[in-house]
Amino acid sequence: MSRTPLVAGNWKMYKTVAEAERYIQALLPRVASLEGVEIAVCTPFTALQAMVDSTRGTRVGVYAQNMHEAAEGAFTGEVSAPMLVELDVAGVVLGHSERRQLFGEADRAVAQKVLVALQAGLRPILCVGETEEERLAGDTERKLRHQVQEGLEHVPQERLSEVAIAYEPIWAIGTGRVATPEQAQEAASFVRALVGALHKGLDEQVKVLYGGSVNPGNAAELLALADVDGALVGGASLDAESFAAIATAARDGAG
Ligand code: PGA
Repeated sequence: MSRTPLVAGNWKMYKTVAEAERYIQALLPRVASLEGVEIAVCTPFTALQAMVDSTRGTRVGVYAQNMHEAAEGAFTGEVSAPMLVELDVAGVVLGHSERRQLFGEADRAVAQKVLVALQAGLRPILCVGETEEERLAGDTERKLRHQVQEGLEHVPQERLSEVAIAYEPIWAIGTGRVATPEQAQEAASFVRALVGALHKGLDEQVKVLYGGSVNPGNAAELLALADVDGALVGGASLDAESFAAIATAARDGAG
């Protein structure tokens, strides 16, 4: 079964609204005729409204980079699913390793967020991945099994395939050290099999992305892998031309 690839640019804490506007005006013409690939920009909260307005009717979806699991409450500095939905945001990145490592986000909260996002009509991208120590210790599969099973724990079986799962080895994020095609394929296929174990048949439908130092030079090889259905791109997504080149590689590698 063929899965439409998703290429999502995770801007992290980059771009003011003015910078985001300049970027999107450069991106839109470059991806206007790219059929057969879903494209998303995951922007800071402050740029969401402007990006939703500027991308209306285009091929580019707008995602948030995080959200709180509660609908509202005394949670200073947080943003909820209904707040994102009100802006017409399409989806949300959940459990990114920077959230887990730098902001102490727990597996339990991530699992709750995945369910809440789906219920609100947001498309979640659940991030999983091992540290370098875990890989060297032969613990990669144990870590992935734990994060995938826990992250999807509350998701009703029939909705499992609506969660995109981004395999992002932590040692490859922002380091320029990309996983080898063999490592990326092996992990993506393992993640897919974990979904299949939760609900037979859905493994063929779920999107598994690769993330970690994807750039226009290595994208074609990664995106052609059998079990890699797209990419979550950090640094190389900040430049419209390089992000468009990665999206083009995804289109060419699909099928
Ligand atoms: P990177 O980031 O492409 O800069 O390595 C990927 C990510 O954090 O999602």
